[in-house]
Amino acid sequence: MTVIAVLGAHWGDEGKGKVAAGLSTHAAACARFQGGPNAGHTLVLPPPEGEICLRMVPSGVISGARGIIGGGCVVEPRMLLDEVARLRRWVPGLTDRLLVSERAHVILDSHLERDRAGSGVGSTRMGVGPTYGDKALRSGLRVADLLTGRGVPDEMRPLAEEFAEVLGASCGDDHATVRDLLDRGERVIAEGAQGARLDIDHGDYPNVTSSNTTIGAVLTGLGAGPGDIGATLVTTAAYVTKVGGGRLPSRVPTDLEELLRTRGREVDGATGLLRDVGWLDVGWLRTACRINQADALALTKVDVLAGLERVGLYDDARTDRVEMLDGWSHEEVATSDESGPLGAFLERVEEAAGCPVSVVSTGPGQDEWWARDDQARAWGVPDAAALPVGAGTAGS
Ligand code: GTP
Ligand code: IMP
Ligand code: MG
Repeated sequence: MTVIAVLGAHWGDEGKGKVAAGLSTHAAACARFQGGPNAGHTLVLPPPEGEICLRMVPSGVISGARGIIGGGCVVEPRMLLDEVARLRRWVPGLTDRLLVSERAHVILDSHLERDRAGSGVGSTRMGVGPTYGDKALRSGLRVADLLTGRGVPDEMRPLAEEFAEVLGASCGDDHATVRDLLDRGERVIAEGAQGARLDIDHGDYPNVTSSNTTIGAVLTGLGAGPGDIGATLVTTAAYVTKVGGGRLPSRVPTDLEELLRTRGREVDGATGLLRDVGWLDVGWLRTACRINQADALALTKVDVLAGLERVGLYDDARTDRVEMLDGWSHEEVATSDESGPLGAFLERVEEAAGCPVSVVSTGPGQDEWWARDDQARAWGVPDAAALPVGAGTAGS
């Protein structure tokens, strides 16, 4: 078996966490390969768990998979300890199932201070940029150093000791573990953070994050090879959202933005920042699919747009920029009816992006999604008929 890469198409917050957790039901491990606590992956589980926001622990642990934090990630020890403590209630034996790469770089207090002092482009203030900066300058501290205490600033020594005590046994060699799993025929879900438009090389520089968020990072951040990638699933919502600096070309009018923000709960789970909202940018989506050589799209949040009379698709390459299509009903979402406007929208997205929409997500819950083709079925995504009664009605 191979790696299934779950990557974001635009500015992130597109539901990768939900998709990665769902696919992890049929995988041995779920691995983060870039980014750090700037990510916020929100999962909605049946009661009593409810909503969980993960910043560093891979989403697939909630589905019983091992969680790997790869060497391409940056780790803030205090936040990781807190997250593990919080999750332990729901995920039995979490520390036995977690692997933190000894190569991952550590976000120091000084990185947090520098990030909070501001970089000019806006950030999540989690210290991620300064940490990757020091990594490139070769002056960073790695998880292996945190465990031995080598180079740890005096004021962080008690934290380093706590980290070693609680998570020391969970730290190790990500590359060797991933290789062994793949060689044994196991499936690994590579869970991206952010999205292609925030990629430091391919995105809207300088309004980007400080890591690669596209397919190459799966290889460098985990130590996998190109032949290990079995499928690349690019995740996009049916509209786009953005936080932080830079332009959102497809931004919708204020009253519609407010409506969609409320319905889609477009407030970042990790930072509390309100997200700006725009029509789905299919011009960029096509680029994201090409950069990642996507095999499939997962289209999330179609429930949020349900009930609108008209729905837009934005493309920079068009002279009139926005193409308006008929909106779909809550009924179509709830019954996974693709014979009307919803089906027409999905087809138009496929055509514009040059990639099949293999997965449709209709709500934040883990069971609110359906497969549209055989590749998605092979990943374990259920057919529409398996949807429980009442699914797909979020936002109504
Ligand atoms: P980053 O790595 O931070 O970019 O995040 P992400 O791509 O994992 O997405 P995140 O969890 O931050 O944001 C997606 C939000 O939408 C979460 O609150 C999810 O619970 C929710 N969500 C996911 N899929 C759907 C869907 O199909 N419909 C609705 N209404 N909400 C969804
Ligand atoms: P940083 O990654 O915290 O340095 O932030 C750089 C830019 O990326 C800012 O515009 C952030 O808003 C954006 N960003 C980083 N992580 C996320 C995320 O997970 N979701 C959405 N935007 C993000
Ligand atoms: Mg998020």
